[in-house]
Amino acid sequence: MVMNAADNSRIKGLDVEKIRADFPILSREVHGKPLVYLDSAASAQKPKQVMDALVSAYCDTYSNVHRGLHFLSEASTDAYEAVRGKVAAFLGAKSGDEIVLTAGATMSLNLIAQCWALPRLQAGDEILISIAEHHANIVPWQMVAEKTGAVLRAFPVDEDGSFNMTAFGEMMSSRTRIVSVPHVSNVLGTVFPIAEIAKIAHDANALMVVDGCQGAVHMPVDVQALGADFYVFSAHKLYGPNGVGILWGKAEILAELPPFLGGGDMIDRVTIEKSTYALPPQRFEAGTPAIAETIALGAAVDYVQAIGMEAIHQHEQDILAYAHQRLSAVDGLRLVGTAANKSGVVSFTMACAHPHDISTIIDNDGVAIRAGHHCAQPLMDFYDIPSTARASVGVYTTREEFDRLAIALEKVNRIFA
Ligand code: ALA
Repeated sequence: MVMNAADNSRIKGLDVEKIRADFPILSREVHGKPLVYLDSAASAQKPKQVMDALVSAYCDTYSNVHRGLHFLSEASTDAYEAVRGKVAAFLGAKSGDEIVLTAGATMSLNLIAQCWALPRLQAGDEILISIAEHHANIVPWQMVAEKTGAVLRAFPVDEDGSFNMTAFGEMMSSRTRIVSVPHVSNVLGTVFPIAEIAKIAHDANALMVVDGCQGAVHMPVDVQALGADFYVFSAHKLYGPNGVGILWGKAEILAELPPFLGGGDMIDRVTIEKSTYALPPQRFEAGTPAIAETIALGAAVDYVQAIGMEAIHQHEQDILAYAHQRLSAVDGLRLVGTAANKSGVVSFTMACAHPHDISTIIDNDGVAIRAGHHCAQPLMDFYDIPSTARASVGVYTTREEFDRLAIALEKVNRIFA
């Protein structure tokens, strides 16, 4: 079926124009042209509801949390703590006690590496990731492997970016202690079959870690149904603020972990000789946290929940199908990542131009995409390419924006012809 931009209006359950009106930045111009923002996978734009919550946290209730007995401190603490329950409901976690508030997904993964892996791994143990990881799900494991003598291994994906169960199974071994994979690849868009991977990991007594940076933003997530032990994501990709993120971990696993960072708020009792620590999740939250930003993350969760993650998923799947069709028609364009089950991003190369040139040229038409290695250099090596151009999809993306991208790419062809 040939789709056109006007078909946007047929999508039920999500009023894109109403949603776009919530995002002030989307109505600005860039280089004299209406902005087409197709870089949400790097960082999503923020609705006014999130920015209002951020401002209100500073204007109306700001004070430090967990430390004061006055009105503002209690109001601030209540608003901050309420976010755990919101995120628990968003992820299908058993309770807010399983939600650790971190500085972002990168910190969450480093916490797992330092607190779970470092004390447990021994020389020869194996950590298994995929070749399609971004660096946040590679480097923390390398750091632990260097200290312990463990070995980091990566299983390949198919040429079209599909997950390959055989390739994964062949890389599992009796020494595999950790399996850590993306829910959705940030370059290929491939949706990994987490529940099946988790079953195999658990049958081998390995820990199952899911990097949900590109997953939690595009589809409903139920961490219990996925069978994960840990699931992490960053607020800024979920239309929330920078500098905050989530580590969900099973309560019984969090209870076994030592602290990550030491300082105030993570302790039970401190003497000069020794300290005892608070229970999770506070044990992992040393120092004054990003209070207002965390409260604004709660507003971001409320925002997407009010629209409905299933409605967001359906909308984005429609846009993605349209994007594939529209971009495939551009001369000399090659899609990188065409797995049947994919979400969120369209990566591509063009015969005529380097991705950096593509991005720079179409920026003149107001079109923002990402170009480069996408913090996934091993995947670029796997495909033997230096980089790709990548357009990504969010709740506010329209088919017309992919028309604008395709027209701008035809211009790239003309310039380099
Ligand atoms: N990992 C982020 C991206 O894919 C920054 O762009």
